[in-house]
Amino acid sequence: MVEFTLPANSKVGTGKTFRAHAGAKRVKAFKIYRWDPDAKANPRLDTYEVDLDGCGPMVLDALIKIKNEVDTTLTFRRSCREGICGSCAMNIDGTNTLACLKSIDEVKGDVRIYPLPHMPVVKDLVPDLTHIYAQYQSIKPWLEAESAPPPDRERAQSVAEREKLDGLWECILCFCCSTSCPSYWWNGDRYLGPAILLQAYRWLADSRDEKTGERLDALEDPFRLYRCHTIMNCTRTCPKGLNPAKAIAEIKKMMVARR
Ligand code: SF4
Ligand code: SF4
Ligand code: FES
Repeated sequence: MVEFTLPANSKVGTGKTFRAHAGAKRVKAFKIYRWDPDAKANPRLDTYEVDLDGCGPMVLDALIKIKNEVDTTLTFRRSCREGICGSCAMNIDGTNTLACLKSIDEVKGDVRIYPLPHMPVVKDLVPDLTHIYAQYQSIKPWLEAESAPPPDRERAQSVAEREKLDGLWECILCFCCSTSCPSYWWNGDRYLGPAILLQAYRWLADSRDEKTGERLDALEDPFRLYRCHTIMNCTRTCPKGLNPAKAIAEIKKMMVARR
């Protein structure tokens, strides 16, 4: 029988509450998903009250403050704290985004933070990216050329050829898009999803690459490419303002053009 409720061991319970210090004037509550694989217990939502007068403006600032000053067990990824590395991707206030680019002031009421949806969780806010990185490797994200490069310089592109990569090279592989895509939720084992397909198009669009035919052959499959149903969640959620749905449409056009 189809089960419409979460399995008992996935239900998120109410966790601990950490109050702000007495005298805090600008208090904001952060409700954060916690799950520890070693604890053998259900996930829970812990509440941390943060005094915004002693905190930086971004959600990542609050997470770092909580980890440094309140609860060192809170686990999340981050590195650059300026929207470049993609590692602080999480679901904040119902939207997949980068914690370092999300202003606390943008969130009305409590700030609810979960890991990226529909991914296995390693711990707390850290998703397991093993499968999606294997998918990334499968599209051969590197230049493939058989001709010898010029002996004295790199392979050149015209300005117009280089411009075709704009809107693609800026992708930071945060996976906000893929984890917002219903097709990827249900078929992520075989559908490559918007992040990987945008990367696939990045190499298809590169004038220096000489394996266009082989790259398209590898995508010609009912699942890898054609599970995109143009729902557009991916483009709506990309924190870098990119358009993976358009990149997918361009691949489909290339498939039709070569028939
Ligand atoms: S447009 Fe395609 S890739 Fe983007 S969310 Fe929709 S189904 Fe997923
Ligand atoms: S397209 Fe945007 S949302 Fe998707 S992985 Fe790249 S930067 Fe992240
Ligand atoms: S910490 Fe690098 S993108 Fe947020």
